[in-house]
Amino acid sequence: DAPVRVAIAGCGVVGGGLLARLLVDPRFQVVGVLVRDPRKARDVDAPVNLFTSDREALLNQKPDLLLEALSEGGAGHDLIRCALERGIDVASANKQAISRDPAGLAALAQASGARLAYSAAVGGGAPMIETLRAARAAGPVAGFEAVLNGTVNFMLGRLEAGADFADALADARVAGFAEEDPSSDLEGRDSAAKVRLLAFEAFGETPAEADVPCDVLSDAFVVSGPVRQIGACHRVDGALKSSVRLDGALSDPLFARLRGERNALKVYGEDGRVWSCKGRGAGRWPTTESVLSDVADIVRARHAVLGHH
Ligand code: NAP
Ligand code: HSE
Repeated sequence: DAPVRVAIAGCGVVGGGLLARLLVDPRFQVVGVLVRDPRKARDVDAPVNLFTSDREALLNQKPDLLLEALSEGGAGHDLIRCALERGIDVASANKQAISRDPAGLAALAQASGARLAYSAAVGGGAPMIETLRAARAAGPVAGFEAVLNGTVNFMLGRLEAGADFADALADARVAGFAEEDPSSDLEGRDSAAKVRLLAFEAFGETPAEADVPCDVLSDAFVVSGPVRQIGACHRVDGALKSSVRLDGALSDPLFARLRGERNALKVYGEDGRVWSCKGRGAGRWPTTESVLSDVADIVRARHAVLGHH
């Protein structure tokens, strides 16, 4: 079989992991890597002529598959739309891009016959989208609660142990957990995007950004015991109620015992059944593996179609 032609968008924590893995895998040919600055030094050894800052030049390489890991929501969303319109399959890690309009992107993918996957956009290496889909397939969902941000969970653990706020944040950035602009983590916007995306999976509706109030983790926040940032969405009297709260009253051991950058999800079915999962919520390799599991699904589906014709 000819190798699958892959374009990668972003070459930071996640895109760099993907590039490193695919460059040594003969089943794939990396045809281009979109970045802001093609001349910037990278921590992955790759031919310089792969890098471009020109979106059209990337798509003109006629990739079969786009792996989208940009740090900007708007640029990611536009790129995904352009790729899907051309029938290019997409796997994205970018929750800010996908959560803008998941229904519109899904419709675009369906219309063009392209596949769209975004397992890594929520929960990093924890299979949250998959768990929610399994719960929804079993019956109507009443709601969900989750620890959705690795940076904040890591920092809360460090703060509880007495660390300085600035040191805890600096360590989360060095570890590759934090967003390029970490205010997105600290102000709850990263988790709110994940709540909106999970709500789409659970209920087929995406709450507006303004309808997900968020608590802010700042150096004024006093951590005197276990605290978790909990993203939640429940259907109450027919309407969705969503929030991202810093919660010190932890009754659930799944959340209370969650250490470091780990994430966890609990889904409640209307019939009383409960589904849960946990895993490494951030960082290069768990996230890379999660995108690659989408890639494996997409390649399998492509082969099924090619074999069929
Ligand atoms: P990052 O390390 O900051 O890397 C972002 C990359 O995007 C950089 O290579 C940057 O190019 C490129 N970029 C940003 N805006 C661009 C634009 N307009 N045009 C071209 N290139 C652009 O970010 P990351 O941690 O890899 O995260 C990437 C995405 O994955 C984000 O959406 C994040 O939320 C998501 N995610 C991250 C993790 C994690 O643990 N880090 C986990 C799950 C999901 P330059 O290098 O030239 O500046
Ligand atoms: N900044 C995010 C986090 C990356 O800390 O959870 C994973 O989405």
